Amino acid sequence: MKICIINGSPKAGESTSELLIGYLMSFIKENEVITYNVREMFFSNTQFSLIQHSDVLIFVFPLYIDSINSALLCLLIELEKRGFENKNINVYCIINNGFYEGRQNHVAADIMQNCCKAAGLTYGQTLGIGAGEMLPFLKEIPLGHGSNKNIGIALQKLSQNILSLHQGKDLFISPNWPRFLWKIQASLCFWYPRAKKNGLKRKELKDKAD
Ligand SMILES: Cc1cc2nc3c(=O)[nH]c(=O)nc-3n(C[C@H](O)[C@H](O)[C@H](O)COP(=O)(O)O)c2cc1C
Repeated sequence: MKICIINGSPKAGESTSELLIGYLMSFIKENEVITYNVREMFFSNTQFSLIQHSDVLIFVFPLYIDSINSALLCLLIELEKRGFENKNINVYCIINNGFYEGRQNHVAADIMQNCCKAAGLTYGQTLGIGAGEMLPFLKEIPLGHGSNKNIGIALQKLSQNILSLHQGKDLFISPNWPRFLWKIQASLCFWYPRAKKNGLKRKELKDKAD
């Protein structure tokens, strides 16, 4: 089976989407898999043709303002414009977001479902994962265990549907980690240091939020 994965993260460095693609690959590696990144911006006709002639298309991307980012949107518009001869393509998505609750991704999942309808493709399923920025810190933990238990189980369900070309109910999950702890850790170890790196003080962050 020909599977095309689109990494829809516009991030310049390592992304959670890239990590999730790596996890997914361990379930689908027996297939002919190609991966593209929306950061490339300009796809060649050959690349478009490979996307258009896949059996399965998988979009892996971050949630931006409860929606999808502009680079991915441009690609989706271009794909719809070019059209698909093979209308039997099944589309699956893995969306990760910054807030704890994976449920936040439900609007973006609906957008993807509508895009499939517009392009005449079959919408398979979306897996929405919360606390996305935490996942790289958990990468040493095996999937299906400890803090990666929910992610492992959900990825297995999604890949079973991908491999059998079945459709499934959208899944929304968070890592197995207490929400209050994640909130404290995310602020102290991630968001505050990142703000500092960008020349912002904690107080300034709060001022902006008021
Ligand atoms: C411009 C922008 C908008 C975002 N909007 C949301 C949002 O609406 N809800 C949310 O939970 N996270 C939001 N995030 C956080 C990202 O979804 C989160 O950092 C994600 O883990 C990044 O994934 P990536 O590493 O695959 O790019 C936003 C991030 C950026 C940069």
